[in-house]
Amino acid sequence: MTIEQLDWHGVDEGWGRRAVDFATLSEPANCREYVAVQHRLAVSAPDRLLDVACGSGLAVELARVRGAECAGIDASGRLVAVARDRNPGADIRVGDMNALPWADASFDVATSFRGIWATTPVAVSEIHRVLVPGGRVGLTVWGHLKKSPGAWALAPFKMATSATLENQAAMVSLGRPGVGEDLLARFGFEDIERVDVPFVWEFADPQMFARALASTGPAYEAIQNVGEAAFLETATRQAGQLVRDGLPLRAAIAVVGFLARKPDRGGRRRET
Ligand SMILES: C[S@@+](CC[C@H](N)C(=O)[O-])C[C@H]1O[C@@H](n2cnc3c(N)ncnc32)[C@H](O)[C@@H]1O
Repeated sequence: MTIEQLDWHGVDEGWGRRAVDFATLSEPANCREYVAVQHRLAVSAPDRLLDVACGSGLAVELARVRGAECAGIDASGRLVAVARDRNPGADIRVGDMNALPWADASFDVATSFRGIWATTPVAVSEIHRVLVPGGRVGLTVWGHLKKSPGAWALAPFKMATSATLENQAAMVSLGRPGVGEDLLARFGFEDIERVDVPFVWEFADPQMFARALASTGPAYEAIQNVGEAAFLETATRQAGQLVRDGLPLRAAIAVVGFLARKPDRGGRRRET
């Protein structure tokens, strides 16, 4: 069973147990993705933006730099504590993305960075509900991982049980051709566009890589199966083969973005 299949109250155990490591060693490596999607959505003042599964809130922080008034939600209380620390005044809540605690039509823009999966369709209907007519959405999911030059960086996750790996595969199927588009269309979105999203993890050395990776939810699933020492040792050893003299460890990974709009009842569209 993956963390995402648990009751959302259990998510903090997997995603929050190394919240400071996640916030400082893992999440910053996702920054290209946040910048690219927020740029494509033309996030700016006076947008009211919701980031769903906001983790430790770096994407929220970058949206605020662009002038948006921000809200966020994540199931992990310990990640939300970091997100609030980074974003004073933003409306960041601990909660379930499948039951968003905001009224209908509260936001102009919604984003979710690898937080929504094929296995969590209700979250898409919730995003539709809380967007204003004409509101924009941007979601990202893993793309074709096996073809990614940086696939090595995700390989340690394979130490989870085979049942967990099957569920992870079901989650990431959202990135397959047509799947994300169909899900968004099913919940009433239009102008659906699939885009390639730049995504590169960089780490100083194999030990730093292993520590960063161990702070994530899928790592927790592997650690439950093989133990933390074995996870760290394997991740460090595998990354050791990728060290380049004078350069960081670098893992470019395929990430797919879906951009779409909630229909505007009056037929008007905001030009972006
Ligand atoms: C892959 S991480 C993405 C985090 C962040 N968006 C980022 O870019 O690093 C998935 C996030 O989803 C959160 N999550 C999992 N299930 C959730 C749920 N039902 N409701 C809200 N957040 C959830 C986890 O706590 C975790 O922060």
